[in-house]
Amino acid sequence: MSTSLRNLNSADLDQVCRIEASATSTPWSRESFEDELTQTEAFCKGLFDESGRLLGFYFARFLYDELHLLDIAVAVQDLRKGFGSTMLLDLLEVAKTRKAISLILEVRASNRPAQALYTKYGFRSVQRRRSYYPDGEDAIVMLRFLAMDLVETTFS
Ligand SMILES: CC(C)(COP(=O)(O)OP(=O)(O)OC[C@H]1O[C@@H](n2cnc3c(N)ncnc32)[C@H](O)[C@@H]1OP(=O)(O)O)[C@@H](O)C(=O)NCCC(=O)NCCS
Repeated sequence: MSTSLRNLNSADLDQVCRIEASATSTPWSRESFEDELTQTEAFCKGLFDESGRLLGFYFARFLYDELHLLDIAVAVQDLRKGFGSTMLLDLLEVAKTRKAISLILEVRASNRPAQALYTKYGFRSVQRRRSYYPDGEDAIVMLRFLAMDLVETTFS
């Protein structure tokens, strides 16, 4: 299957919301996705097959010098085909190109598949946020340092 990654726009949100609804028990609203598309420091990308079907997406945003992965999901029928990896590697490239100090995210404590994905690409668990999610579940904060030299300079 040949795939392509491109910036998302409003016309893609039906597909985004369908994947989101099947990927999580607390899906983002369409309005939240719409709002994210308008943010200047946001990176909102979709991975499509040759027919234009959305296979997966990510939403990320810069907060100061950190790139924050806000949401990432792959369509249920397309899990474990490497698409999550493709998108995470793209995001790491964005982070490096923009000279982010780190790429950071929160993940549900019970979400082992996502934690395994992040660990595979060099993320480490750095903090547990108690009752972070609306249903009371804890979040694990995971971080991948990208510029240790820069970090040392910042704190010296
Ligand atoms: C997390 C998610 C995006 C991974 O996407 P994916 O396309 O299935 O991932 P990949 O095929 O690229 O897998 C890459 C690595 O992730 C890990 N992984 C992915 N799914 C896994 C699973 N079910 N169990 C264990 N490890 C898993 C493995 O280390 C895998 O490497 P391997 O294939 O060499 O073993 C996908 O499971 C998903 O959409 N989940 C629902 C939404 C979600 O939880 N998003 C994260 C919010 S923080």
